Amino acid sequence: MAIERTLSIIKPDATRRNLTGKINQKFEDAGLRIVAQKRIHLSPAQAGQFYVVHKDRPFYGELVEFMASEPVVVQVLEGENAIAKNREVMGATDPSKADAGTIRAEYALSVGENSVHGSDAPETAKEEIAFFFSGLELVG
Ligand code: TYD
Repeated sequence: MAIERTLSIIKPDATRRNLTGKINQKFEDAGLRIVAQKRIHLSPAQAGQFYVVHKDRPFYGELVEFMASEPVVVQVLEGENAIAKNREVMGATDPSKADAGTIRAEYALSVGENSVHGSDAPETAKEEIAFFFSGLELVG
């Protein structure tokens, strides 16, 4: 299996509740290595750009407002099959449908405030990592 990198965001509902350590533990227990990590506060324009793929969806405005409401922790996770593995550890978008033991089952508050983001494919992972991190910040 290929070693991949994926972009993860610990969202405002989770940073606010001091859950960064508990969420990182889930990643590390699943064999994902945190190879880059920083805490930032997105502007509404930056959050809007990051989620531009959803711009025509009814929840876009609320999503952008939420993501810019408080700081987030952005991180690059690395490991075998990291993109799919991270999505597994995250659980379904809607926490009421997420498998037991997943981050969203344990910590998410709602579909909108669902604690974590993870890239969904190799191409988006590459774009999303480049959105937040420069080459100098990524240790090989
Ligand atoms: P999506 O890419 O479908 O989910 P995921 O984060 O699991 O990849 O949606 C992006 C985010 O948009 C999602 O994490 C929360 C928000 N969202 C809503 O607020 N309401 C919704 O009905 C959906 C589908 C998503």
